[in-house]
Amino acid sequence: MPKRTSSLETAAPLIPESPTLDKLREAAAGCRACPLWQKATQTVFGEREGPPGPGPRVMFVGEQPGEEEDVAGRPFVGPSGRLLDEALEAAGIDRSQVYVTNVVKHFKWKEMQGERRIHAKPSAGEIRACKPWLEAELRVFRPDILVCLGATAAQALLGKDFRVTRQRGQPLHSDHAPVVVATVHPSSILRAPTEQDRKAQLRAFIKDLKVVADLLHGVRGGEEASAQL
Ligand code: URA
Repeated sequence: MPKRTSSLETAAPLIPESPTLDKLREAAAGCRACPLWQKATQTVFGEREGPPGPGPRVMFVGEQPGEEEDVAGRPFVGPSGRLLDEALEAAGIDRSQVYVTNVVKHFKWKEMQGERRIHAKPSAGEIRACKPWLEAELRVFRPDILVCLGATAAQALLGKDFRVTRQRGQPLHSDHAPVVVATVHPSSILRAPTEQDRKAQLRAFIKDLKVVADLLHGVRGGEEASAQL
């Protein structure tokens, strides 16, 4: 009989001893801590594009993989990822310093629109179930700067009362990293009602990322990043 999943289960028992990112990715591939795996193609774990470069590290955390990420098995490779890449380049952040991941590692969807599966927001129970993976990624990667993309990531990491609208682009202290910056999720920019709005929102997003770029360029490690606050 397959083990029943309950909303009280989390991925905690699946975290390997002495984890590395590769060991975590391998273990997460079989995660059944919440029911989302049943309708998703695969676990989409965090990754860094290219070989690790020198200098400080930055981790970007989104909400959950989208449809394209679900198929590719890689985070931020769809429309939101392309916009993130464009904004990173405009802000002067080197992709080799960046690790991208999500709060929830399986694509959640409820309905189809034509051929497309439509994204559904993860529940508090699904976020809780998945969080041990993110906490382990943070412990292993040890970012100097952590960037929360959107409310789901910001509230999962900074508390449920955190409001991105009020505190976006501000360097903050947290137990998760020496510096945390929260900003909007790129998908919210893609949903802007007009081209003019989209451009304005993209400019504001790049401005937030420039705060991250300035911190990155001004520091060699976490302690120095904190000292800048
Ligand atoms: N949106 C996210 O939050 N994460 C992804 O990986 C892709 C889209």
